[in-house]
Amino acid sequence: MSHLVRVWDLPTRVFHWSLAVCVVGLVLTAKLGQMEWHFRLGYAALTLLLFRLVWGLVGGRWSRFVSFLYSPASVWRYLRGTAVPAHSVGHTPPGSLSVFALLLFLLAQAGTGLFSDDEIASSGPLTHLVSNAWVSRASWYHQEIGQFVLIALVALHVAAILFYLWRKRQNLIVPMLTGDKSLEQAAPPSRDDGFSRALAAAVLLLCGGAVALLLRLGAA
Ligand code: HEM
Ligand code: HEM
Repeated sequence: MSHLVRVWDLPTRVFHWSLAVCVVGLVLTAKLGQMEWHFRLGYAALTLLLFRLVWGLVGGRWSRFVSFLYSPASVWRYLRGTAVPAHSVGHTPPGSLSVFALLLFLLAQAGTGLFSDDEIASSGPLTHLVSNAWVSRASWYHQEIGQFVLIALVALHVAAILFYLWRKRQNLIVPMLTGDKSLEQAAPPSRDDGFSRALAAAVLLLCGGAVALLLRLGAA
């Protein structure tokens, strides 16, 4: 008998697809020189990333970081096909490595963007708060390292999802849309009711406020 379990709460799903749209938009706007929109999308991405950090502590069960913080031994067991069933409910052990890497490098990209300068027309909103040497380092990372690491991580991420779909006959995309996974064993669901969604909206608002405050600091 299979069990339909709410694994991804609505806030996590909205976070995921909004982040994906922002990141594609960020690369396109940068390459097309639409820097005003690059900045706007950058602030939106930063807000979403801050939201995810908080949601990783207070969000639904399977969105919490503790639910997918695995030891190297767990990763190894999963790859050998001997993982415990609980490790296949939310992010799997190798999947969690990709999630943490994506979040880390996205935060680094958005963070360095605030201090980047293309030495032509676009300069991040906090560049004047640090020395020229730091602006050069941030711009170098943003332009020469971060963007390529991120493009590689996203390509790997999508390739892994397609690998699960075609080779392992496991569709991970539908649960990221509907929230529910069909599992062989029963598992506790993620909380996803009116209260948790209102909490998520409040957290998102606070994160947006924190980004706005940061920009005010830059403008002061
Ligand atoms: C720039 C594009 C993308 C970025 C930055 C991105 C980022 C992420 C992140 C950070 C997570 C972790 C979700 C969380 O726990 O908060 C995730 C999970 C996921 N993403 Fe994406 N994603 C992108 C594009 C896509 C696309 C195009 C697809 C569909 C083909 C996709 C399918 C998924 C799925 C199915 C999961 C859940 C994986 C699992 O079950 O462990 N993503 N993504
Ligand atoms: C995850 C978020 C971000 C991504 C994926 C991203 C991506 C990129 C890419 C691909 C480029 C073009 C580099 C090239 O010339 O080849 C770029 C340039 C730039 N970005 Fe971002 N960016 C992000 C966030 C931000 C933020 C938040 C800001 C500032 C508010 C920003 C400011 C800039 C500036 C000033 C440049 C031109 C200077 C430079 O290349 O270092 N970016 N970004």
